Amino acid sequence: MVRPRRSRDVAAGNVRSLHPMRMGPHHMMPRDADAVKGARLAGDTSRRVWTFARPYRGTITVFLVAILLAALLGIVPPLVVRRILDVAIPNAIDSGNRGPIWWLAAIAVAAALVDAFLQIVQRWCSARVGEGLIADLRRALYAKVQRLPVAFFTRTPTGAITSRLNNDVVGAQTAVTSTLGSVVSNVIVLAITLATMLALEWRLTLLALVVLPLFVVPARRVGRRLQDISREQMTHNAAMNTQMTERFNVSGAVLVKLFGSLDRENETFGKRADAVRDAGIKAAMLGRVFFVALGLVAAVGTAVIYGIGAQLVVSGDITPGTLVALAALVTRIYQPLTGLTNARVDLMTSMVSFERVFEVLDTPEPITDRPGAFDLLDPTGRVEFDNVTFRYPPASESSIGSMETQSIPGADPDRDVLAELSLVLEPGETVALVGASGAGKSTLASLIPRLYDVTTGAVRIDGADVRDLTLASLRRAVGVVSQDPHLFHESIGDNLRYADPDATDEQIVEACRAARIHDTIAALPDGYATVVGERGYRLSGGEKQRLAIARLLLKNPAIMILDEATSHLDNDNEAHVQASIEVALSGRTALVIAHRLSTVRSADRIAVIHHGRIVELGTHDELVKRDGLYAAQLRAGELAID
Ligand SMILES: Nc1ncnc2c1ncn2[C@@H]1O[C@H](COP(=O)(O)OP(=O)(O)OP(=O)(O)O)[C@@H](O)[C@H]1O
Ligand SMILES: [Mg+2]
Repeated sequence: MVRPRRSRDVAAGNVRSLHPMRMGPHHMMPRDADAVKGARLAGDTSRRVWTFARPYRGTITVFLVAILLAALLGIVPPLVVRRILDVAIPNAIDSGNRGPIWWLAAIAVAAALVDAFLQIVQRWCSARVGEGLIADLRRALYAKVQRLPVAFFTRTPTGAITSRLNNDVVGAQTAVTSTLGSVVSNVIVLAITLATMLALEWRLTLLALVVLPLFVVPARRVGRRLQDISREQMTHNAAMNTQMTERFNVSGAVLVKLFGSLDRENETFGKRADAVRDAGIKAAMLGRVFFVALGLVAAVGTAVIYGIGAQLVVSGDITPGTLVALAALVTRIYQPLTGLTNARVDLMTSMVSFERVFEVLDTPEPITDRPGAFDLLDPTGRVEFDNVTFRYPPASESSIGSMETQSIPGADPDRDVLAELSLVLEPGETVALVGASGAGKSTLASLIPRLYDVTTGAVRIDGADVRDLTLASLRRAVGVVSQDPHLFHESIGDNLRYADPDATDEQIVEACRAARIHDTIAALPDGYATVVGERGYRLSGGEKQRLAIARLLLKNPAIMILDEATSHLDNDNEAHVQASIEVALSGRTALVIAHRLSTVRSADRIAVIHHGRIVELGTHDELVKRDGLYAAQLRAGELAID
């Protein structure tokens, strides 16, 4: 008789649908109880949530109407039973006319059919709205994160970013679908059921409400406790995931093999996995105990109704039908009431997810097109550093506080990496930049394509401040081969086409021949279809560099930046790389960060950078004659001599 609403979900093991307690150990919603505690819904947030929900207002309306109709239908079966008991059966006994009984039974069947249909409609609506919102939020976040500056990515762990796109987005949509749905549904079911019960027999109804505190008080406590456990579980999960993502990539795995101890690794991982297990068991048990208790109290409530109601039947105050109907209805008020006790916390939790999403969407984009930015058309490639001073941006300007897992003490740069530096690269000229490790060579190069913006001074291309140019045209004009070129986990062909999606096979082969990498690729088992990247075929450092040069040749930029790898290459590779560099540089303005004498010698001019300043500038012979820092470096063998 006593059947907590939705008990079939429990039987089916679908614990998650036991909203609003949502006690499943796997749900992804970040439950930041601290953030929720005492939190107020900022009017602002709800308004913005609405801007995301707005496109779905039609579906949401259908959803709410379906909920309302389902709630109304819920009181049909008890009323049908009442009528059968009080009217149809006595009539049939008196007159022998059994027709009305069949009719009433048919009504109950019809109600069940419509209810089934409404459930499907509800699910369809909530799935459409929920999945739609997830997709919209993800799209917005992805677009946003891509526009954030490099400084953001140097500070934020990848896991924190992906978790915003996964967990928080999912958490946010539950605010609109399940939380909103269950709150509305609970309110309506409660109102309609209570009204019906009061109309049937108000004294018994009030009696049924007396046991309420038995629900509400534990429900509140269990709800909060479950939130704590979920949060604990998410923290442990995150720790476990971080360990996996850090160790299960080639570099991490190699580091563990060379330096780590497998036992130590297994032990820390095991501890984290165990913590997730323990929290999961706690959550499952607490959820089940609570649910069983709920059933028990409902059973007691029903028994009380029967016990006292039966007295009223005997004394002729109510009919047996009314009693049965009341007993059926009473089971429908406890669950919504319990649900509503936690509605506020649930809503706040979902809002926290929304706020975390908005936090990312609201991050300023320091490096973006200025209003009125213009395209850099047919650049001749004159690059000018004009009195440039640069300091890496502090955390407060370049990251989202809540996404940095730990703030790195002393990480805020307090010194100028480049100071009052001026340098001009004439069109078509190759300038080699040499200097000690950490002198600021890579930093200087990164200012040209605006990976960072200067602190003071200016970087100009063809006389235009790079900050006045559109980023798209600027990055078309500037090509970079970095110290450690990155390849996506895709085929070699696709990696090359990343620079020019329309490149023909012939153009690709031509670029690879010029970069002296074609023969190597052609000898691979799958040729240009060979999948490379961290988890694919592993190219050597020199091969990767040449592939990156081929990628650059396809892009065909006017200005080229080459950050030579510091590692020494074998003679064969060395010669190949040198040849490919010469092809790449011809006819372009080039800034080459050089570690090898061969590269330095083939440059038009050499700039020596020391502590963020250009201290010497001239040809190889001039600088040797000058007998300054460059000559000293040469003597000390700091430039690899080939
Ligand atoms: N993202 C960053 N945040 C703060 N400081 C940085 C950052 N990147 C580099 N630095 C610092 O700026 C200085 C210059 O670094 P840079 O990478 O430009 O050196 P480099 O001349 O290219 O050295 P190498 O020859 O070893 O590549 C270094 O002291 C480095 O620690
Ligand atoms: Mg460098």
